[in-house]
Amino acid sequence: MKNKKTQKLSISTRAVHGKRLYAYTGPVALPIYQTSTYRFENSKLAIRYAEGDESVYVYTRYHNPTVNEVETKIAFMQDGEAAALFSSGMAAISTAILSLCKSGDEIVSIPSLYGGTYRFFRDTLPNYDINVKYVEVNSLDDLKYLITPKTKILYIETPTNPTLDIVDIAKLVKLTRDAEKEFKSKITIIIDNTFATIINQQPFEFGVDLIIESITKYLGGHSDLVGGVAIGNKLLIKKVKTLAKHLGGCADPFAAFLLDRSLKTFELRVKRQTENAFVLAKVLSKHKKVNRVIYPGLVTHPKHRLAKKQMTGFGAMVTIEVKGGAKGAVKVCDNLKVAINAMSLGGTETLVSIPVYSSHVNMSGEELARHGVTPGMIRISVGVEGIDDLVNDFNQALDKN
Ligand SMILES: Cc1ncc(COP(=O)(O)O)c(C=O)c1O
Repeated sequence: MKNKKTQKLSISTRAVHGKRLYAYTGPVALPIYQTSTYRFENSKLAIRYAEGDESVYVYTRYHNPTVNEVETKIAFMQDGEAAALFSSGMAAISTAILSLCKSGDEIVSIPSLYGGTYRFFRDTLPNYDINVKYVEVNSLDDLKYLITPKTKILYIETPTNPTLDIVDIAKLVKLTRDAEKEFKSKITIIIDNTFATIINQQPFEFGVDLIIESITKYLGGHSDLVGGVAIGNKLLIKKVKTLAKHLGGCADPFAAFLLDRSLKTFELRVKRQTENAFVLAKVLSKHKKVNRVIYPGLVTHPKHRLAKKQMTGFGAMVTIEVKGGAKGAVKVCDNLKVAINAMSLGGTETLVSIPVYSSHVNMSGEELARHGVTPGMIRISVGVEGIDDLVNDFNQALDKN
């Protein structure tokens, strides 16, 4: 999948220019084709489209020049052959999954998934007779017993949400490919790379087939758009896009424009956020009102060595467990002045949320335990603010608990 030629350009260069590294006449900023449909000079074009020529624009649910430009750029940035943009991360996830599975098929995943994905697996897929089995992150060898000839997808996230556990991607890929050989089948390996982003983790290098990201988070980066993306080889993306036409979760041209604007500062933002997160995690581990800080960059993280091996940075998400359970977590969140109490992540502003009241609402005690989520947890999406202001803000809020 990796193209050596593109490797010479940094992610920032690709994010700013896309493939347009040549002189041309035209706008510097990406034009927004805010149109639902396209005019044909004459019916020859309609006939060409009807005969299968996809370069003829007909309708924005199928394709749009603004959206297509950003898809090409994101694929290029992430060393994928092609990409499909969606109206949300969940639209990307559900469309990709359904494009690869039919009734009777199976998926193997990990229990500690983003809550929305987990609930889609738990509440919706069984209605289509698609069964999801879970392998514990610390017992990956069990994959040998879970994969069957019916398995079509291995679906993972790492670092996990909100417990920031690290899943061994290379090991999972190897076990899956071994099972494919045994069953003479094809299993598509999908990773949700939203938390790490391509800056901190490059899943195609491990042999993953499809990367999915909620662009609402770091790629969008300003808490002002909702979107999702799937990146992979041309054949896989064609399959995903075909179903996307039916399910209809297409990206809006204006959201694609905002995304393109955000991509230009993507590397700058994520690098600063990652640096801030590391400092904040170290400071918070010393606070007496904090029971536990979970950050893959800390040597105290149980999978620190694995994180060091498979990531190029430890990410900008930090999870802490404060004293006093859910009450303590509420008190700390309500006393923060710089950090914002809001449910998303990845934006320039630091956001905090309490998983039992947000991403992991609607789950039984047993499910929470399986996900490793405790009532006193606060998930921090570290922003680009001055680090001293963040440190002071968290210290004063924790002191009041
Ligand atoms: C890791 C992860 N994946 C996917 C999603 C879903 O993305 P969206 O909210 O854009 O549908 C989220 C949302 O929080 C997420 O955190």
